[in-house]
Amino acid sequence: MANDKVSIHGAWASRWVFILAATGSAVGLGNIWKFPYMTGLYGGGAFVAMYLVCIALVGLPIMLAETLIGRRGRQSPVNSMRSLAKESGGSRYWSVAAVIGMVAALLILSFYSVVAGWSLDYIIGMGQGNFSGISAEGAGAAFGGLTDNPWRLTLWHTLFMLGTGFVIAKGVVAGLERSLRIMMPMLFVLLLILLVYSFTTGHFMQGFHFLFHFDPSKVQGGILAAMGHAFFTLSVGVGSIMVYGSYMPKKSSIGATVLTVGLLDTLVALTAGLALFPIVFAAGLEPGGGPGLMFVTLPIAFGNVAFGQVMGLVFFVLVTLAAWSSSISMLEPAVAYFVERTGRSRTAVTSMLAVFCWVVGMGTVLSFNIGADAKFFVFANDGFHLFQWGAEGGKNFFEGIDYLTSRILLPIGGLAFAMFAGWVMTRDSVRDELSIKSPLLFNMALWLIRVVAPIGVLIVFVAELTK
Ligand code: PFF
Repeated sequence: MANDKVSIHGAWASRWVFILAATGSAVGLGNIWKFPYMTGLYGGGAFVAMYLVCIALVGLPIMLAETLIGRRGRQSPVNSMRSLAKESGGSRYWSVAAVIGMVAALLILSFYSVVAGWSLDYIIGMGQGNFSGISAEGAGAAFGGLTDNPWRLTLWHTLFMLGTGFVIAKGVVAGLERSLRIMMPMLFVLLLILLVYSFTTGHFMQGFHFLFHFDPSKVQGGILAAMGHAFFTLSVGVGSIMVYGSYMPKKSSIGATVLTVGLLDTLVALTAGLALFPIVFAAGLEPGGGPGLMFVTLPIAFGNVAFGQVMGLVFFVLVTLAAWSSSISMLEPAVAYFVERTGRSRTAVTSMLAVFCWVVGMGTVLSFNIGADAKFFVFANDGFHLFQWGAEGGKNFFEGIDYLTSRILLPIGGLAFAMFAGWVMTRDSVRDELSIKSPLLFNMALWLIRVVAPIGVLIVFVAELTK
């Protein structure tokens, strides 16, 4: 039977390991770094509310779809979709969605590695006590000093990419489980400690209000951003969850598993937001400060409490580890695919892909300093330019790749995965994979995958185009 196959790349020992790996993929810089700064940029509570709705109605159903496609196909996302399409008489071109996802994941890795590199730099900074007693201006200057220096950024980017490649070359199963088991709970405990600190700033309620006060006038401005972030934070739309699903044991419930991952991810993001914003307000910083937000606020917190430098050091180690367990999941779909396709070793394939991501990542490194004037997607008075040097508007290289992946490629990939599981795979094979006993719950899950998630993605796209 097709569904009793095992992947040639490995298998998780239990459903629990899948939860760890998928949570490891989902929880990362997206929760601690990106979620707070996006919330700040897009006006607070309205963004958070839309993000939560997108997680529940779009992200989780797509995660369900990806997991079941992967577990049924038992190969890399591209080949799983190809063989499942054949099995159910659908077009083989559905697998193009997995190709798009694979490319998107590599592009995300290119900038993710640069930002994870910032945390590596902060580990050293904390270790040397550089942030002791630091002021808001001092923290801003320290961050600027880092991003202005392409050599320093390149060093950390290179190290992080090497670390990612190293684990992937060894295989995802070995090593991952043990580290995640310790790391995830520790990260959460440290976030809670930060939360306690944020209580003491005297601005806790202001932070809380900023995160949860819903202002309807801000909805349209950030709706695509919120959906894009829901995809990014859950790691869906790229095939990462699909490839992890292909290593999942047959006898385990997908529904409960996916819910657990989604809840943990959301919990970490909201805790990070609650910990950060009171510090932002107490220090008189701007919530809309952009990508530097976490790297400026946290040193202020750690620099001004007892044992703060040690806690800060541990915190940035954990952030780096959380980023690392996410970054490996970005590389895995492509590595699995090229190993299947070329028959070469994991090490050879991984090396080539990591070099590719490293080179693209250099664009992000330079976009913070000497290449800041290279602008993409420029809408000017004389029309649209894909690229223009020194343009007023537009996006720098980092912003451009982030925009292209989160707002365009991930939603398209996710839409296709949901449609594929909902409409192309046979109802019986979906029922067999999901193994949900209650007919009511099964129909609900299927309805979410078939109708609600795809329509949700389309509505957001239309809302954005008509804005
Ligand atoms: N979910 C990760 C985070 O929130 O940091 C980012 C991510 C991982 C995106 C894996 C895409 C992916 F395939």
